[in-house]
Amino acid sequence: MKKIKKINNKTINEAVELLQKGKLIGFPTETVYGLGADATNKEAVLKIYKNKNRPKSNPLIVHVATLDQARSIGIFDEKILKIVKDFWPGPLTVVLKRKDNSKICKELCAGKENIAIRISNNKTILSLIKKLGKPVAAPSANKFGMLSPTSAAHVEKQFLYNDDIPLILDGGKTSIGVESTVIGLVNNNIIIYRHGGITKEILEKKINEKIYEKLNAKASEKSNLSPGMLKKHYSPTVPLRINITNPKKDEVLIGFGENFKEPNLSKSGNLEEAASNLFYLLEKYEAKGSKIAIAPIPNIGIGVAINDRLNRAIK
Ligand code: TXA
Ligand code: MG
Repeated sequence: MKKIKKINNKTINEAVELLQKGKLIGFPTETVYGLGADATNKEAVLKIYKNKNRPKSNPLIVHVATLDQARSIGIFDEKILKIVKDFWPGPLTVVLKRKDNSKICKELCAGKENIAIRISNNKTILSLIKKLGKPVAAPSANKFGMLSPTSAAHVEKQFLYNDDIPLILDGGKTSIGVESTVIGLVNNNIIIYRHGGITKEILEKKINEKIYEKLNAKASEKSNLSPGMLKKHYSPTVPLRINITNPKKDEVLIGFGENFKEPNLSKSGNLEEAASNLFYLLEKYEAKGSKIAIAPIPNIGIGVAINDRLNRAIK
């Protein structure tokens, strides 16, 4: 069954009806595609974990359309409020203390006191949430541990035989290409749990305050602070080597910068362009069954998020 449909009023209404019936849908955001469910429907939220093969200890992000909606489910302190006013809608997720009386089902938070909230700037998801009148639970639309999808076709490939997901809205290739940056507050310090679409430098400059790196991954696995910090994640199913300038004969080299031929994450050495092509090119050569080598990527700006994903992919 063909699941992918172009986005228009009719298919958005169809998506809303499916969410109301407790089904899951695939949809674009500016970062990667999400796998959405009505965040107040326990059965639907449990279907996300089941279809992704995601451990139930790994909480989901809830997507909302307005700050008021966000404030009805999470407790904002002044510092975080100021940040989201600057960066929402956008590729930023904040981890907050969950409001006890909200209708969000607890399974979404994997039994934790905290909840991860984001307002995307993608028109489709914003209109879905508004029409549904409820927040939408949505992790990235990939099977657990696999590459995050940046196109509708990549979502369909991963969930072709999953009956719980009858519809994938096609918004073309996502623009940012890596997931949102996840931050939280610990002892009144801003902590970055996952590097992503908004760089640490830009955040620090705007808030004029140092942002601390997450605890090391081992500690986080123990304390389960942010399971997205799991060491191995986002892997292609073919062998991958990173920081390579001289590939082996049987490897395809994905370059970066003008010294490398095609395929190239960005001929002009633009890191934003490289991020938007990262999962896209990895998926393309994974699909061909090629062994992959990737050129060195500068570890600055969004290059930090790129290197983070690559380092996890090879663990
Ligand atoms: O760009 C994105 O963020 C995409 C699009 C679809 O919005 N979503 C996404 O969701 O990447 P997911 O579930 O694949 O990643 C959620 C991240 C994980 O790293 C998870 O561990 C962390 O957020 N997270 C969620 N709830 C948390 C919580 N209560 N405390 C700490 N970390 C949490
Ligand atoms: Mg994910």
